[in-house]
Amino acid sequence: MKIAILGSGGREHAIAFSISQSKKVKEIYCIPGNAGTNEFCNNVSIDINNFEEILKFLKEKNIDLIIVGPEDPLVNGIVDFLEKFKIKTFGPSKNASQLEGSKIFTKNLCKKYQIPTANFGVFENIKDSKKFLSNSKHPLVIKADNLAAGKGVYICENINDSYLAVEEIFNGKFGEAKNILIEEFLKGEEMSYFIISDGKTIKNFGTAQDHKRVHEGDKGKNTGGMGAYSPSRLINKELENKILEKIIKPTLNGLSKKNTPYKGFLYAGLMIVDNEPYLIEYNVRMGDPECQTILPMLSTDLIDVIQAVINGTLSKTNIEWHKTKSLCVVLCSNGYPDKYKKYIELKNLDKVSLDKNNYLFHAGTKKIDEKVFATGGRVLNFISMSNSFYEARNSIHQNLLKLNWSHGFYRKDIAYKVIDK
Ligand code: AMP
Ligand code: GLY
Repeated sequence: MKIAILGSGGREHAIAFSISQSKKVKEIYCIPGNAGTNEFCNNVSIDINNFEEILKFLKEKNIDLIIVGPEDPLVNGIVDFLEKFKIKTFGPSKNASQLEGSKIFTKNLCKKYQIPTANFGVFENIKDSKKFLSNSKHPLVIKADNLAAGKGVYICENINDSYLAVEEIFNGKFGEAKNILIEEFLKGEEMSYFIISDGKTIKNFGTAQDHKRVHEGDKGKNTGGMGAYSPSRLINKELENKILEKIIKPTLNGLSKKNTPYKGFLYAGLMIVDNEPYLIEYNVRMGDPECQTILPMLSTDLIDVIQAVINGTLSKTNIEWHKTKSLCVVLCSNGYPDKYKKYIELKNLDKVSLDKNNYLFHAGTKKIDEKVFATGGRVLNFISMSNSFYEARNSIHQNLLKLNWSHGFYRKDIAYKVIDK
């Protein structure tokens, strides 16, 4: 088979690597990919939101199937667009992608089906928002409705914070804002929970603890994710049952009733409060860096799973996992998540030791004239599998010392809650 993958991050490198292990896969095209995927795939420089160009390319090359990594093209309707031209596309439809594309859509679904989530209100202008806020207890959370690339969420400690948030959102900091969401602040521990569905059957696709804050001890600004470990320390049978029965199934049944069956990966961002799950947000894709952390543990052929989703035969496909744990540390450019320098060479990549338990997935990298340069805030993902998180993290740290990249930094404390107790 000839497969295309849309996206250029660590998640897409991990997906490309996983399917490259399949005997069924002959060629992989990454649109646009990175220096890591360039080693074993064909990178193709097309904008991920230029659907016409993508279609033209897929037809020209006779691609059998395309896997969509990031949320942007999904929310913009790439699946509906390509399916019109009979291209097999892995990912949810435009309507189903509203689970991520519109926080208010998801909140209303929660309300309709009594899905546990933070109490909320929707406001249409600055005046009404401020009136409500002046009578509300803080802390509370204010969110822009639309996709804001992980931004557009304010945790407000006091009324000054919340007035500022309302003004910034309505004044267009994250694009045109018709509505905002004001939410109760939930105090607990976050967990990433994944499933895959073909619109009828739901199968678990792992759990992970992401580390979103830039500094050790979960301090500092929010990032795309500085590292993760899987499985989550919070998961247990009872909690998993509650997540499926109270959150995932009512959501997917609710969508089916709207004639929008959900096909693809679904990522539930949950807050766990005393072993009770609350939905914070849905993402209509795998997490990054959770995908890199989880996929190396998959023992079933990923292409079989993806084809089963597209063909609607997931009930007949067993998804099996290696009995191990996995940990990922993300190497970032100095300055991230604020300003950082681009096009700094990564010199010692050949010194890193990789084997069947140790992986390196690229994110913001580019190969130019046989040299690899850092081009993004998150640059490389180091993954190690072991029965011990401590051993896994040690292996990764040794590789990071070998790389010795003085232009970057990483959190040395990933998984501290399960290692450094
Ligand atoms: P979101 O983009 O909705 O995932 O929000 C970004 C981050 O803000 C989440 O990962 C949480 O850390 C935090 N957050 C969002 N909503 C809440 C809430 N209702 N209570 C506490 N923290 C929240
Ligand atoms: N790990 C956070 C995300 O993928 O959105």
